[in-house]
Amino acid sequence: MADKYRIQGGNQLKGEVFIGGAKNSVLKLMASAILAKGTTKIYNVPELTDVSIMLDVINGLGVKTFHDKEEKSVTIDATDITSITAQYEFVSKMRASFIILGALVSRCKEAIVALPGGCAIGERRVDFHIKGLEALGAKIKIENGYVHAKASKLVGTDIYLDIPSVGATENLMLASVLADGSTRIQNAAQEPEIIDLANFLNTMGADVVGAGTSEIVINGVKQEDLHAIEYTTIPDRIEAGTFMSAVAGTKGKAIIRNIYPAHLTFFTDKLIKMGANIKLIEPTAIEVSCKNRLNSVNFVTQPYPGFPTDLQSMAMVLLSTANGVGIITESLYENRFMQVQHLLRMGADIHQDRNHAIIKGIKRLTGATVAASDLRAGASLVVAGLMANGTTIVENLHHIDRGYEKFDEKIRALGGNIIRYSDDTTNEELRVQDGSRI
Ligand code: EPU
Repeated sequence: MADKYRIQGGNQLKGEVFIGGAKNSVLKLMASAILAKGTTKIYNVPELTDVSIMLDVINGLGVKTFHDKEEKSVTIDATDITSITAQYEFVSKMRASFIILGALVSRCKEAIVALPGGCAIGERRVDFHIKGLEALGAKIKIENGYVHAKASKLVGTDIYLDIPSVGATENLMLASVLADGSTRIQNAAQEPEIIDLANFLNTMGADVVGAGTSEIVINGVKQEDLHAIEYTTIPDRIEAGTFMSAVAGTKGKAIIRNIYPAHLTFFTDKLIKMGANIKLIEPTAIEVSCKNRLNSVNFVTQPYPGFPTDLQSMAMVLLSTANGVGIITESLYENRFMQVQHLLRMGADIHQDRNHAIIKGIKRLTGATVAASDLRAGASLVVAGLMANGTTIVENLHHIDRGYEKFDEKIRALGGNIIRYSDDTTNEELRVQDGSRI
């Protein structure tokens, strides 16, 4: 049976929460591990369905993997690669698996990878990935829903991205690690996950310069220069921002640990403007608290270092009960307001016009049955449920499981009243969660 959350709103979140490794980094590091022969070990790996899907993709190449959930590590032995195909079965479940294209073309000079197609939040094309690979000398054929890329050799070149796409920047970084000469990616994405990938590759023996700026240069090295490594993933800034929102939205007070505060500067700044208190208490920990009703702000989602699209839905939930009117412009995706229809059912006053949303703050949301339509919209409905008056049921948790490790456990540890159940859950199992019954 499909799992659901039942949230009894109104508890202020208090205490401490420990943030896990960054989903959007670790998935790319796992794919990159196949560049070097030998056994690479990655630490700070969160237990997420997306991580399991990436392991399936890598196992499908004949590469041996081991996920130690206790240790939060994955081990990838890429000494031998026996297949160059990433099947639709996996790529269709998770777009991020398309990153295997650049890694395979680099290591094997050939790859057959299913085209991911669009998803709930937008069309999400991969044309920049393909054009960049062609510029590096790969011959590309699109056949039967698969990209077949082949290159007798890849040659470094200048690539200009029309928009700073995260996935295209990463795929092209991987494709050029073993190319002849230097590749210059202009208008590159600058996200912290790009820097993490460059650090990972450089530790492995690659020569990547400029990650974190709009121009990245990859000086090609030889296969024998690359070696297996041990590496620790950066913290998940979006999980951190989600908990910051939940604490501020419930007028709580909590310490968010294992984060890099600098990765959240823009989001933190908006929360402070709204009236939340945010204190740096250690280099990797902040304290978030909020006593009064938040004030409305306007913002536009932008590539890093701008306001992160992945936290847009959380901020919308906060605006839904803030003082005044806030306007959100979503500039990255065509369809990333999927939470709106559910927030309306919780009493919110939101008017959506294409990629703009006008949110008039009301005093309090009221609990309702709602459904996650995608990962971040789903997480925002959990935050809304924690803030609301009464009971909220959030359905379709498989979306949330893609990107939040033990979400309900972490919320319960902060005092939130949330339980996970399905129609098969016994009363005893519910009591183990928090002593309550459905
Ligand atoms: N785009 C194109 N052509 C391309 C590539 C991108 O038109 O070849 C467009 C997309 O359609 C989109 C925009 O460019 O409208 C931005 O896409 P980008 O390539 O930057 O995003 P991504 O790499 O597919 C990653 C994250 C997303 C996050 C975005 C933006 C991963 C696995 N995913 O996606 O995270 O929203 O960057 O920051 O890294 C999430 O975690 O919930 C999530 C969706």
